[in-house]
Amino acid sequence: MSLNPAEFRKAMGCFATGVTILTVDLDDEVHGGVHAGVHGMTANAFASVSLDPPLVLVCVDRQASTHAHLHAKKRFGINVLSEDQRAISEYYARADRRDTDAESVAGARFDRTRHGTPVLRGSLAYLECQLRSAEDAGDHTIFIAEVEDVVVREGNPLVFYRGQYRKVGEDVVK
Ligand SMILES: Cc1cc2nc3c(=O)[nH]c(=O)nc-3n(C[C@H](O)[C@H](O)[C@H](O)COP(=O)(O)O)c2cc1C
Repeated sequence: MSLNPAEFRKAMGCFATGVTILTVDLDDEVHGGVHAGVHGMTANAFASVSLDPPLVLVCVDRQASTHAHLHAKKRFGINVLSEDQRAISEYYARADRRDTDAESVAGARFDRTRHGTPVLRGSLAYLECQLRSAEDAGDHTIFIAEVEDVVVREGNPLVFYRGQYRKVGEDVVK
């Protein structure tokens, strides 16, 4: 019996996740006469892999432009969104976006680490990552990266659950 894709998506949507923006520096590239700046992409297929060394994974669609950027640049940021950053998540999931409009449309602003990696201002946490390996898996690629630095801030996460953005709820009472 072949699995219904809609049912598969629905089942995966029951697994509540946070939301991240993957950020890659493209400032050395000039597109249409202007420096390309920061490329971002919304991703929730993100997980911890190993503590020693500290490794994480992200799964990226082989059709996504981010796929080629991660292979080419190797160093990138994973920014965990806070609950007030929904517009940024929506923006970086749009196929018709232009990276140069991210600030004016969604309020996304970036800082640079000492390695020059762009990281999103106001995120709940960021991880600065260096690509270690890439494994194709169906229509996606699993990128495994070593975490070189992290910054964690106060606040609450943006949650994605059953196709909707949410805030974290109450503690579960025993
Ligand atoms: C909440 C949410 C989570 C997403 N997670 C992923 C993901 O983990 N991997 C992926 O390849 N695309 C994911 N997407 C879709 C990409 O953000 C979207 O296809 C984006 O336009 C790709 O951009 P790019 O072509 O510039 O790389 C997600 C979208 C949303 C709204």
